Amino acid sequence: MTRVLIDCDPGHDDAMAILYAAKHLDLCAITTVHGNAPLEHTTRNALSLCTLAGLNVPVSAGADRPLVQPQLQKQTLHGKSGIDGAEMPEPDRDVTGEHAALTIIREAKRSPGELVLIAVGPMTNVALALRLEPKLPELLKGISIMGGSTTAGNVTPTAEFNLWADPEAAAAVFDCGIPVMMAGLNVTRQALIGAPHVARLHGTGGPVGKVMGDLQDFYATRSSAVYGLAGAPMHDACAVVPFVHPELIKHRACHVHMELASPQVRGTTVCDLRVFKSAPAAAARTQLPANALVALEIDGAAVVDVVVDAVLSYDA
Ligand code: BDR
Ligand code: CA
Repeated sequence: MTRVLIDCDPGHDDAMAILYAAKHLDLCAITTVHGNAPLEHTTRNALSLCTLAGLNVPVSAGADRPLVQPQLQKQTLHGKSGIDGAEMPEPDRDVTGEHAALTIIREAKRSPGELVLIAVGPMTNVALALRLEPKLPELLKGISIMGGSTTAGNVTPTAEFNLWADPEAAAAVFDCGIPVMMAGLNVTRQALIGAPHVARLHGTGGPVGKVMGDLQDFYATRSSAVYGLAGAPMHDACAVVPFVHPELIKHRACHVHMELASPQVRGTTVCDLRVFKSAPAAAARTQLPANALVALEIDGAAVVDVVVDAVLSYDA
């Protein structure tokens, strides 16, 4: 069973990703970061989710702001708490007291070459861990992120929220020396929870189904009102899918450049998906070696089914 650590900013879809991962994988720790709401809220939401689902997983809080830029904007899609729309239980536990970046390093060192780091919020904690322990990439089995897009963005025309929220941190992750598995909006927006899934969640009659059903109902309504989506996008679960149901997602190795300079496209992932059959010298020179495995195809309906199935099992 793959050992994973989830770095997150819960978050409606973060919560689903955590429950999906905890059901199928060896989830050794959860670390929290600023993002969908201030750190204080995302951390409380993680603790509260663990309480709700009876997850015995340590939670460490990390960065409360980006590495370089000031915090740009508070997200409203997830509501003020970061996870509006349901009554979450009062946490029955506390954080570890260790900084998230140190937890990431410690867990990687515990079993070198075995840990997959799944990052589904802004990349600040991951970048800090990379700076504190330059050998971290060698200690990991892999890094999988939800972030970026090969097509449109959701905050600016081309930038996706997680990477836009701390572009310098995201650049450090793509430059870390091991291929970064990227689930961007181009695939994550195909995995949508709609009314029938919410009904299935509510149908358990148990506390997890009730809360997760209410949450996804809220998130679907917001996502439809703001973006015209036909449901609640399971963005973050798509970064977990390759380790549980790899047949549902397809990646291509390519170079991803994190744009930091241009004000119009700062925070954008420039994915070099060009294919050269016979490379003219000039074009070939500009194509950098792959630093990422970018998801290009996904079976969104099947992903939603397996994620919902996992969540239903908590009330069984
Ligand atoms: C990402 O930002 C947040 O809204 C979600 O949790 C996801 O990680 C999508 O852009
Ligand atoms: Ca998230």
